[in-house]
Formats: sequence, structure tokens, C-alpha cells
Amino acid sequence: MPSATINVMEAAARKAARGLIRDFGEVENLQVSRKGPADFVTEADRRAERILRAELTKARPEFGFLMEESGATEGEDTRRRWIVDPLDGTTNFLHGIPHFAISIGLEEDGAMVAGVVYEPLRDELFWAEKGVGCYLNRRRLRVSSRRRMSDAVLATGIPFKGRAGKHAFLATVETAIDNTAGIRRLGSAALDLAYVAAGRYDGFWEFGLSPWDVAAGIVLVREAGGFVTDISGRPAAIDGASIVAANDRLHAPVRQMLRDGLEESDGDNARKPRLRETAAPDIRAQ
Ligand code: IPD
Ligand code: CA
Ligand code: CA
Repeated sequence: MPSATINVMEAAARKAARGLIRDFGEVENLQVSRKGPADFVTEADRRAERILRAELTKARPEFGFLMEESGATEGEDTRRRWIVDPLDGTTNFLHGIPHFAISIGLEEDGAMVAGVVYEPLRDELFWAEKGVGCYLNRRRLRVSSRRRMSDAVLATGIPFKGRAGKHAFLATVETAIDNTAGIRRLGSAALDLAYVAAGRYDGFWEFGLSPWDVAAGIVLVREAGGFVTDISGRPAAIDGASIVAANDRLHAPVRQMLRDGLEESDGDNARKPRLRETAAPDIRAQ
């Protein structure tokens, strides 16, 4: 049985999702309009965040918040805060691509203790609580049991205009191409982590994510028996510069593979200094 905390998170996610589903229908119509759906989507995103804040505040008035659109709010209870992405997969939403989610994490004394990632179009509620396990709706989840890299399907995120991390991404994707069964980029980091927890992906890595992208997903993967660290192997932090999640058997080899790719490419770039990308995050500085 989900705890009272999970029930609160689920109810808030479902309420905000009703608005998102309605707005997604409208976005599909707006694709062909002259103005396009951009402003409408920004408003949909904010509306979802307002609903989540109102619902979570009603149930737990003393907790603080870290929300993508409205930032940090300290609560009376300084030990607990909700970390919320009201719409993860905004580019998909904007383009009418049906793959996006609401992500709500609960942090207690600096550690993630509960997470809900809700994908409204398939009505998939991924939830987990520290020490309780990870579930998809009422079904217990477990990470995949694949042990060979050559069988593994990994997810990632690709940086785009205005984002740092191209060098790190290209170096790591190259080695993943050479060693795995395939790579996916579906466009929602929260769902990428949920899919690792569900055993759909064998692993996931990305650079430069924000706390609200990963807060809930970290709990999902851990409670499903997987491992989540940064690329150097330190336990994942919500504000880390990199994240590597995978099933328990593949986590170490996947992380090593990505790291080797990065180091090899650094070696190449050192020999070709002018090609070195300056904006890439310094992964080793973590
Ligand atoms: C984005 C998604 C995407 C990831 C980006 C994030 P948003 O979040 O999680 O998968 O690659 O880096 O910013 O902007 O859709 O909330
Ligand atoms: Ca996001
Ligand atoms: Ca977002």
C-alpha cells in the first residue's frame, strides 16, 4: 500500500496532469497555426506548476519547494522540500510528441526519500519510497537483469542550442555506439530514469541536468535495485554535473565505458587543441 506521502504526491500529479492532457490536445491543434504553440505551452507549464504547488501545500503546508519555474521557497519545516518539474519533456509537448511527465521528489535532510513520475497519456504512475520499493501503478518494479553490454539498450539526452556539454556527449555516445545494442533519446530525463527502474532501459546517462529532472528518478532507480552515480562513481546528487543510472550488473561497466570514452577523446583533443570544446562541463572536477 502506498504511504500517505505517496498518496499526496499522486493526487497532486493527477490533478496537474488533467490540465496538461487538455492543453496537449490544444497544442496539437496549434501546430498548424501561424503563431505556433510556444506561448501557450509556457502557460501550460506554469499552470501545472501552480496546481502542484497548491495541492502539495494544502496537504503539507510546512514543507519547502524547489520548482523549475518558480525556484526555491523555504518552508517552516526546513528539513523537507518538494523538488518538482511540472512538465518534463517540454520540447516533446511543444511539438505534439506524446512523451512527457510530471516529476515530484521529496527531499529530507538533503537526501531523496520519495519520488513520483507520472506519464499522463499512458496513465503510468511510477513511484518509490526509500525502503519501500518501486512500483508502476500497483506492480512492483525491478531493474533489468541483462549483464552483457552488447545486449544493453541505454538512454541519454542530447544537448542542444545554448546548452553546454556537446564534447562530453559526443565522446560518450561514440563509445556507447561501439559497445551497446542501441541508444534512445526520448526527451524526458524523468521518464528515462523511470524506464531504467522498470527494466525497459538497461541504463541511462546525461550531462548538465537540473535537480527537478532527476530528484524523483533517483529514488525510483535505487528502489528498483539499480545504481545511480555521477560519471566518477560518487552517489548521484540532484545538482551533479553528470548522472549514470543502470541495473546493478551493468552500472560499473557502463560507467567505466563512458569514462574511458571521455578520457580517450580528451587525449585526442589535447593533440588537436583547437578542436577542444571550451563550454563542456568539467566532469572530473565533481
Ligand atoms: C529536459 C528533459 C530532457 C533533457 C533536458 C531537460 P524539460 O527537461 O528532461 O530529456 O535532455 O536536458 O532540460 O526542459 O523538458 O523540463
Ligand atoms: Ca525537466
Ligand atoms: Ca520542465
